[in-house]
Amino acid sequence: MDADIAEILLRQEQIQARVRALAGEIAAVYDGDARGLTLVPILSGSIIFLADLIRELPLKMKIALVHVSTYPGTATSAQEPHTLVERVGDVRGRNVLILDDILDSGRTLRQVQAMVAARRPASQRTVVLLRKVRKAPRDVPVDFVGFDIDDLFVVGYGLDFGDHYRNFPHIGILRAELMP
Ligand code: IMP
Ligand code: MG
Repeated sequence: MDADIAEILLRQEQIQARVRALAGEIAAVYDGDARGLTLVPILSGSIIFLADLIRELPLKMKIALVHVSTYPGTATSAQEPHTLVERVGDVRGRNVLILDDILDSGRTLRQVQAMVAARRPASQRTVVLLRKVRKAPRDVPVDFVGFDIDDLFVVGYGLDFGDHYRNFPHIGILRAELMP
C-alpha cells in the first residue's frame, strides 16, 4: 500500500494535533447547551475522522450515520446520482453537527444539509476535516474546517480510491500512474 503513495500531504501526528484542536473549538460551541447533540457523520470517508474526533469531545451525543456514495468505483470526480441511506430520525429541538471527511464539489454536503434542515433541528452546523478551498461552493456552509488543501485527489485517514487506502494513516497523494 505505502508504495502506491507518491507524496504525504499531512502526517498522522499533524492530523491528530489538528483534530484535537478542532474538538476544542466544537466543545466550546456546544458546552453548556442543554439541547441534545446529534452527530451526523457521512460514511464511509469520515470513519477515521469520526473515531478520532468523538473521543476528544467530552459531550453527551447521539450518532446517526448517513451513507452517501459520491465517487462510484474509481472515478475521481463527483458523479450523479448520489445514493443516500440514513436513519437520522427526529432531531427537532436537538443540535445537529454534520461531519464529513472532505468538502470538494459540495454535492454530498448540500444533499445531507437539506435532509437535516427539513427535519427542523434546533441548530445545524457542519465540520469537515479537509476543504478543497478553491472549489468549495459558497452555498454549502461549513462551520469547522481541519485543513484547507489544494485541488488534489487525496487518500488515507478514511479517504479512499476505489475503496482502497482508507487505512493509510497519513493523508497522501497516489502515484500518477494509478489514477485514471
Ligand atoms: P463532493 O460531494 O464533491 O463535495 O465530494 C465529497 C465526497 O467525495 C467526500 O465525502 C469524499 O468521500 C469524496 N471525495 C472528494 N474528494 C476526494 C478526494 O480527494 N479523495 C477521496 N475522496 C474524495
Ligand atoms: Mg465520502
